[in-house]
Amino acid sequence: MAKQNFSHHPTICYRPIQPCDLEILERIHADIFPIRYESEFFQSVVHERDIVSWAAVDRSQPNGHSDELIGFVTARIVLAKETEIGDLLRYDPSKPDQTLVYILTLGVVESYRNLGIARSLIRQVIKYASSVPACRAVYLHVISYNVPAIHLYKKMSFKCIRRLQDFYLINGQHYDSFLFVYYVNGGRSPCSPLELLIAVVSYMTSGLKSVAARIRKNEEKTAKWPKCKETQSLMSIQTKRNLTTECTGYECVICAGMSMIKTCVNAWLLTAAAASITYHGGPLLTGNLNLTLIWYGQFGRVHKNVIRAFVESLHYNAGANFQPQVSSWWNVIESYQEVAGKGGSPININVVKQVADLKYSAGKVVTGEFIQNVLQKVNTGGDSSTIPVILTARDVKMQGLCFTKCSQHGMLAGGAQPYIVVGNPESECPGSCAWPFQKPDKGPLSITLNPPNGNLGADAMVIAFARALAEAVTNPYKTGFYQDKSDKANKTVEAASACWGIFGSGAFDGYTGKVRVDPDTGGGFNGHGSRGRKFLIPAVWNPKTNSCWTLL
Ligand code: ACO
Repeated sequence: MAKQNFSHHPTICYRPIQPCDLEILERIHADIFPIRYESEFFQSVVHERDIVSWAAVDRSQPNGHSDELIGFVTARIVLAKETEIGDLLRYDPSKPDQTLVYILTLGVVESYRNLGIARSLIRQVIKYASSVPACRAVYLHVISYNVPAIHLYKKMSFKCIRRLQDFYLINGQHYDSFLFVYYVNGGRSPCSPLELLIAVVSYMTSGLKSVAARIRKNEEKTAKWPKCKETQSLMSIQTKRNLTTECTGYECVICAGMSMIKTCVNAWLLTAAAASITYHGGPLLTGNLNLTLIWYGQFGRVHKNVIRAFVESLHYNAGANFQPQVSSWWNVIESYQEVAGKGGSPININVVKQVADLKYSAGKVVTGEFIQNVLQKVNTGGDSSTIPVILTARDVKMQGLCFTKCSQHGMLAGGAQPYIVVGNPESECPGSCAWPFQKPDKGPLSITLNPPNGNLGADAMVIAFARALAEAVTNPYKTGFYQDKSDKANKTVEAASACWGIFGSGAFDGYTGKVRVDPDTGGGFNGHGSRGRKFLIPAVWNPKTNSCWTLL
């Protein structure tokens, strides 16, 4: 391969990426990758938040440039069991903490290519992964047309184990990706005939067990989806992708579909998961809380039924065969009282009244004044045990809503009465408020889920409402539970916004984390509720463990 002509002899050194590399790191990413990376990603790299990285610099450069980045690799440590290749490893169930290193980005500036710099950077990653006893492999995705990178990984003995169809969406065009793995510390998948046989038998046994259990429980009807997708019942994909294994060097993949299919469009970071929520001494809502649902504008029956069923589900025991349950999510909200030292009594939520405002009596733009007007007309009692909830139709605009705020809660001026307003995600920032049922309008492109109740608007409204309800109860007067430093840009980080974008364990930016698939509808859900309904409920901050908590 042709080498570059330099007027000097480059002296390449490798070091960790530092905060002073921020600007150049962003610039090189923008120059060489077709995907735009968020600033949170770069902040996490330079501050080593959940990311390990190496920089290549040319020490022979003249003063001022000798420490300047000319190449980099960034990677993230992930739990093996939560990845799409967990089942391809020599997995030891007695060691559930086995990890993998996932390479996020690798790049070398053009004038320094073909000098072996990328190879050395990858070697650093492999060395690091090998030094972590629990680590079983290094893996990555590469777009199918990236010949230099594919050659590089093959030369370095990475195994191409899958081709993922339409994995990337760039400028409206779909591209496949290859999944490459380099095993370390004996992490290779089972390959001897005996191991293969054991793996197949164990797969079939678990499949049979799961089918038998389903028949016994009569939980779900005939599966329309291929069984190998359903067996792990973790991930739904609206566009039914096929995992194929066309790449050469592929080895020992028994059934690609049997693995969990995750939408790992380069593992971005969770945006708000690091927020820590603390108690500030103020009152919380407790006891019997009566909701007045104000349907502002035109709504169909589905929205009303789904929202009411969600409220009912907060206290509904669907039985041992229907786990996890929405009520467990509510139990976490109830636990805030205990953490605040106010005892542990239940918080009973009931819909006591419903009002429809079909004539948009306060106009079609939600502002502070709008809320006062609507609530005055409805007469909701005025005390802290009655919560009016304004749910707006799709032709109503909400000012100041969108990212991390698709609903809001507050209290009426001069009174103790809390209220909630829920925007309509079909029209209000659908790329943010209707995600994961709708494609995101920022961040990585990810696979969308089918709404569990078959109605994107209603199911997304449940998510927004659940968030606002959780925060209204735990921080009704802005003196309860919230993040200390959260008032930047007028945003208060509270019980639900602290865990924005998370619906199941293993979530990262653009990926919901574990969710289940209803084989009948293809709907993604994580909790069973009343009347046989299923819901996708957002993560909330668990004040006992100081971390985000999800149903799955
Ligand atoms: N054509 C074919 N093979 C190539 C090429 C090329 N243009 N460039 C590198 N290779 C292969 C060769 O096999 C080479 O081995 P050889 O020298 O023995 O023939 C091997 O890669 C090692 O080459 P390096 O010199 O270490 O690679 P380099 O430093 O040039 O960086 C890289 C390669 C990172 C792919 C570079 O071209 C680049 O930055 N491209 C743009 C960004 C990118 O595509 N990054 C990878 C995306 S995948 C990810 O990020 C997870």
